[in-house]
Amino acid sequence: MTPLLLVSRSAEYETRLRALVGERLAVIDGEFLTFGSQFVASRVTGEPRIALLGPVLSYEETKGLVDALTVRHPNLGLIVVQEQRSDLEDWADDIDMHAVLSPDASDRATLALLDRLADWLIANGRAGARDFTVQPAIAPVPLEIDPPLVDLADASVDSAAGPVVAEPGWVFPPLEAGTPTEAIAVVAPKGGQGKTTIAINLATGLAEVAPNSVVLIDADLQFGDITIALALTPERTIVDAVAEAADDEIVLKTALTHHSDGFFVVASAPSPELGDLVSPVALGRLIDRLRATFRYVIVDTTPGMGEHSLVALEHVTDAVFVSNMGVPSLRAMRTEFELLTTLGLMPGNRHVVVNQTDKLSGLTIKDVENILGAPVDVDVPKSSAVLLSSNRGVPLIHDDVRDPAAKAMRSIVLRIAPEASPTANQDPEKAAIE
Ligand SMILES: Nc1ncnc2c1ncn2[C@@H]1O[C@H](COP(=O)(O)OP(=O)(O)OP(=O)(O)O)[C@@H](O)[C@H]1O
Ligand SMILES: [Mg+2]
Repeated sequence: MTPLLLVSRSAEYETRLRALVGERLAVIDGEFLTFGSQFVASRVTGEPRIALLGPVLSYEETKGLVDALTVRHPNLGLIVVQEQRSDLEDWADDIDMHAVLSPDASDRATLALLDRLADWLIANGRAGARDFTVQPAIAPVPLEIDPPLVDLADASVDSAAGPVVAEPGWVFPPLEAGTPTEAIAVVAPKGGQGKTTIAINLATGLAEVAPNSVVLIDADLQFGDITIALALTPERTIVDAVAEAADDEIVLKTALTHHSDGFFVVASAPSPELGDLVSPVALGRLIDRLRATFRYVIVDTTPGMGEHSLVALEHVTDAVFVSNMGVPSLRAMRTEFELLTTLGLMPGNRHVVVNQTDKLSGLTIKDVENILGAPVDVDVPKSSAVLLSSNRGVPLIHDDVRDPAAKAMRSIVLRIAPEASPTANQDPEKAAIE
């Protein structure tokens, strides 16, 4: 337990405070604020009781941090470490903090303030007395990682004396050696064609074939919306999944969010700025790494042929190309086929999906094929059930099994996993937890 957290740009202050409070301190370098206060807050994974913010943080940074930290840790005590300045009163008025501490305060004054705030937190039920005791066995680490959730297989070794392990209601089924794994990118040259809808239903359908051995990566790094469409609340995102710490397989697994239909989601970045931190190379590596654990890896992408989408295509076995019946987007898709073939980036298996087909569009599927210069593999009719299911946070193929669009989504699943049932609607939770 490290009850104290320091976010500061002053290495000198950090050294001083560490000398004073030792093992009880976790530190996040204030330089991380370049990526925003949300990012810094997302790095705090323990349950700190008191945060010291500063010195050398601006007013905006401090305010942003206080807001971001208190959302995640509502009982946190907050101390702003700031020199006495004329505008300090304004800071105190605007920022919801408990105390201001001068970085030049004596050791005694600093410790006395920490003690007073700790007492106040305990007296007000915001912390327990044990939260502030020194536990020297734990080495201080600059960026903490929560204890990973342990696979059920490992949980059986948990003894009465051992740590309490949160038992997940799911397992990562081991992938038998030699099992072929597939990665499927869902791409479209233009936005709003139905990539995310198809990617979600693909994950849901494939999870019936391989329960809990399917992972869906939201690689729409800036505006990914898979967790919203599935009503999930991710604790971690793709930013964590590609972070250095995720080199450890268990840490990588903790970056996944489980869906009760038997698949996992790598959530999109919590903000567009953080999405920018995920390089194309990192995305490619993530796909490869997840293929070592999961039978199916599905990648939802940003519209167009940006670098990330190209790298995703390089790392997959299958690509699902999605277009609606609009002539501009069909033409763009034809150009995309030509470009990918020229670049040698066309994945081995191509699935052409025309989405939101509508008799009133004035085009037949034959017309569409002429524009595309390629056969259409699946046509998904326009259906109001798609929006309804998304608003309900339930994948369409489980929300409305008889809907024509749901049936068409199932035929995309069948193309990738012919063993999938065209109508199945089994409970994957039951299948996974024997
Ligand atoms: N077959 C369909 N019938 C009716 N509405 C649909 C259908 N497919 C998708 N939609 C709706 O179209 C909108 C865009 O779909 P979706 O978000 O899946 O597209 P996208 O390609 O992922 O978009 P973006 O490029 O913004 O990521 C959504 O409101 C979705 O509910
Ligand atoms: Mg999308």
